[in-house]
Order: sequence, then C-alpha cells, then structure tokens
Amino acid sequence: MNLPTAVRRRIFLGVAVAALVAAGCKPTGGGAGTGTDIPVGEFASLTGSEAAFGRTSHNGTLLAVDQINAAGGLLGKQVKLITEDNQSKDGESATAVKKLISRDQVVAILGEVASGRSLEAAPICQQYQVPQISPSSTNPKVTQMGDYIFRVCFIDPFQGTVMAKFAQKTLKAKKVAVLTDVGAPYSVGLGTYFKERFQADGGTIVAEQKFTKDDKDFKAQLTAIKGTAPDAIFVPAYYGQVTLIVLQARELGITVPLFGGDGWEAPELLQGSGAAEALEGCYFSTHFSPDQDSPRAKDFVKQYEAKFGARPDAMAALGYDSMLLLADAIKRAGSAEPAKIRPMLAATKDFDGVTGRMTLDKDRNAEKSAVIIGIKGGKFVYSETVSP
Ligand code: PHE
Repeated sequence: MNLPTAVRRRIFLGVAVAALVAAGCKPTGGGAGTGTDIPVGEFASLTGSEAAFGRTSHNGTLLAVDQINAAGGLLGKQVKLITEDNQSKDGESATAVKKLISRDQVVAILGEVASGRSLEAAPICQQYQVPQISPSSTNPKVTQMGDYIFRVCFIDPFQGTVMAKFAQKTLKAKKVAVLTDVGAPYSVGLGTYFKERFQADGGTIVAEQKFTKDDKDFKAQLTAIKGTAPDAIFVPAYYGQVTLIVLQARELGITVPLFGGDGWEAPELLQGSGAAEALEGCYFSTHFSPDQDSPRAKDFVKQYEAKFGARPDAMAALGYDSMLLLADAIKRAGSAEPAKIRPMLAATKDFDGVTGRMTLDKDRNAEKSAVIIGIKGGKFVYSETVSP
C-alpha cells in the first residue's frame, strides 16, 4: 500500500497503543524528567488558517520559559520547550503529541488554543498519562476527556452568559440571529450556551444559520438572517471567517452590530480592504486585554513588548500562564515525573497569573473574569471586565 508517511505513522502508533491496551498495560511514554533538562512539549497552529492563535500563544510560552531558565530553571535544571506545528489541520495534533510523548519523552504538554485540536490530543495525553494544559480552549468537553487534562481559562457556558447579558444590556438587543461553524466544537458549543442564556433571559433567537470551515461565501445565510430583522448577530467563530462574514453582511446592507467570542481575537480580523470600517461598533469577549489596569498585567505587557516588539493578546497571556502554572506544579511536586505533576496541577489554588488568579476546580477548569473588547476607529478597545 502506498500511504503517505504521516498516515503510516499514525496507523503504526494506533496499532501499538491498541496492542498495549489489549495486553492490559498502560502505554508508557512521557519522560521522567531525569535527564539534564526538563523537556516540555507544545503543539500549536504556527501556520495555516489559525496561525495567529499559535504564534502568540507560543510567544507567551517562550517568554515564560526564558524567564524561568534565567532565574535558575526548575529543580536545578533548565526547561527545554519542544514545539510541534499542527498547521491548523485536523489530524495533525494527534500525530504531534504522539511524537512529543514517544520521541521526545516530554513530562507535560501545553496546547492548544482551538478546542477542536485540544480535543484531538487529549485522549492521547490521557492514555499515556502525560498532563496536558490547554492555554485557551474553552469548550467544556476538553477537560472532560480525563483527569490528566487541564486548562488555565474559563469555559464557554460562562463566555456564552457574558455575551448574552452584554447583548441585552449594552447592545439593547431583543432579537438576535446566530451564525455557527458546525465543524468547530468551539463554535457549536458557544453558540448553544449563548442561545440558552439569551432565551432564558427573555430574548428571542430569530435565526440560526450554519456554515463550515472552508466556506467563503456566506451570502445565503446572511440573506436569510436579514429577512428576520435581528437587532444584532452573534458569530461564535474564528477570526478568518468573521472578517469575511462581516464584509459580506455590510455588502448586503446589514447595518446591525455583529458580536462574538474569543475566537475573533487576532490582528488579522481588521486586515483586508474595508474590514476595519465594516467591524466598527462590533464587540467580542476574551480573556485579557493589554489595556487592563492591573500591575501584574502591565508588567507582562512591558516584558512581552521588549522581547517581541508587539503588544500581547489573550493567547499570549494564556500561553505564558500555562507554562508558569506547570512550573509551579513541578516545584510543588519536587519532581518532573508526569504522575507526580498531575496531582499538584489539580491542587492549584490562588495562583497569580497575568490573566488573573487561578484556582482549578474539580473539573480542572479555572474560574476567571472575561474581558469585552470593542472595535473603534479600526482598533481593539478595552470595554469592560465581567466577573463570574
Ligand atoms: N476559546 C477558543 C477555542 O476554544 C480559542 C481561542 C482562545 C481563540 C483565546 C482566541 C483567543 O477554540
């Protein structure tokens, strides 16, 4: 059979794991951190359709690693970050984490931003019992994959509630249309939580339209939405699609605000001809703003700008926090063995991150505040912070 190498590798690994499980053994992988350094794995979308997510979360993680190593490392060793690019493609995250665990013997894995890709990697991390920490995947299912899976961000039932209340209070919307990417667990989940809360609070969902990842033409869905005369349109999608959707909505004469969640956050959202104008007066929720007024956040913004020459966004801040949280757990464990790191991660209490104080609950999620950002004069402008 003439299969591509990636496919063959995947089949081989799958068969190997199945054989071990059938023989009643836990597949072993993941290092014990007994070498001269502590290998930490990271998988991220450094290229492809959501490259903005991977790039900044990777930068945040890098900054944390540099600071930890400059301060003497962990347990007397240096942290070695090993990064795999999944190219924003389905199937690549599973391959990436298998490599990190089997080949690189990492003690823990950081990633991913997008919920769908975290969900793809989680069964493997769980099976090999290597802790996985997602910086910013907000779909509840991610940490439900097992007790080795953690995150440092809030989850979408909260984010949906925040935006439902915002729609009613600030946008004064009574009728809202929802446009969802059915291929993305993040989009489907956030759309559902938003809708449930908005309706429970007396609002009406006048239209529910759908699209898939590679769609470029949203005119049919937008025309149907226009016919229901909504006060606003909720689009829980990733930035690349959002820009196209907003531009086409304006072309069709839809003038009401569009709003969404953290998936909107990337400088690319505003790029391209007419995008900034089309998005004027639109809003999204996220985890962090560099304009936030906390000393911890300000300090982080300064350090990040000095290293990368750009302002950090939510993914950068969460990538930074995910590495710091892991370092804290390794210190408290006094060991870099995955099985010893896990209970220390689970016991995280009042950890002071740049995105807020973190206590992990019994489901390994962090209860945190959300930030709402508006688009004004072609810029992201901090609007408000909403506490749980
Ligand atoms: N929360 C999104 C998801 O789960 C990812 C995301 C996080 C995007 C933060 C932008 C900023 O897929």
